[in-house]
Amino acid sequence: MNAPANAPILRIEGLTKHFGGLTAVDDVTLEFAPGRLHAIIGPNGAGKTTLFNLISGFLPSDSGRVFFAGREITGLKPHRISRLGIARTLQVKSVFHQLSVADNLWITAQAQRGVLNPFRSTTSYRETCEKVERVLEQLGLAALANQQAGTLSHGDIALLEIGMAISAEPKLLLLDEPICGMSPAETARTVAKIRELAQTIEIVLIEHDMEVVFEIADDITVMAQGAILASGSPQAIAADERVREAYLGRAEDEDYIEEPVRA
Ligand SMILES: Nc1ncnc2c1ncn2[C@@H]1O[C@H](COP(=O)(O)OP(=O)(O)OP(=O)(O)O)[C@@H](O)[C@H]1O
Ligand SMILES: [Mg+2]
Repeated sequence: MNAPANAPILRIEGLTKHFGGLTAVDDVTLEFAPGRLHAIIGPNGAGKTTLFNLISGFLPSDSGRVFFAGREITGLKPHRISRLGIARTLQVKSVFHQLSVADNLWITAQAQRGVLNPFRSTTSYRETCEKVERVLEQLGLAALANQQAGTLSHGDIALLEIGMAISAEPKLLLLDEPICGMSPAETARTVAKIRELAQTIEIVLIEHDMEVVFEIADDITVMAQGAILASGSPQAIAADERVREAYLGRAEDEDYIEEPVRA
């Protein structure tokens, strides 16, 4: 498999998911170009998280196909998809509160190597140690390595979660509302970190904060009622009448739909 350099990192064709009578993801077809930070926005219940669940194999789709770096991953189990290079964070933060920051990272770094093996070689042990150190540095969490995760600030927990996802050394990282509930200072720090990570890892981000989305995204996809309403540059999305309509009644977002484009 030698995909051309500009081939989509992720391609979704006609992806559909029903929950009983509800169509949560409705015939979604989408391409994610490499090297571009892609944001998915849309009102509550639009199907954004379900789309991530389908891509990462957490849920089976009812129909449609998913291709990652040119390879079909439709129907693969989550651990297979993870090993191929897709990592994700969850909308509800999910670190091990009783464990230290370093031990949280250790678990995910080691899990990528397969089940914990008592006969594992010292090399693999050392490699995992080095990986944990690297991720601690990368996320700016080194000073908190031995702190219990449950005592961290909201912003540090979110960074730890991202650290746990990247300790699997993914090519593609799916972030589900990584800055939800953060203070402005925590938001700024996390946004800077996401930008930095995007230099080396492909990132798709679900986010409600329009200010953040329009600040960092190269491409934006808008979902509503399971379907894609619009997809394009921040400028095109800001000017899209259907997008404005989808957000009517969400005053704080409308402000940014009115004047979202920053230099
Ligand atoms: N496991 C499930 N079983 C039944 N219905 C579900 C399930 N997961 C999601 N849904 C429904 O599917 C729709 C899409 O949900 P989803 O969580 O994907 O939306 P979302 O765009 O991520 O919303 P939010 O912005 O609130 O996180 C919603 O109506 C939701 O209630
Ligand atoms: Mg969601």
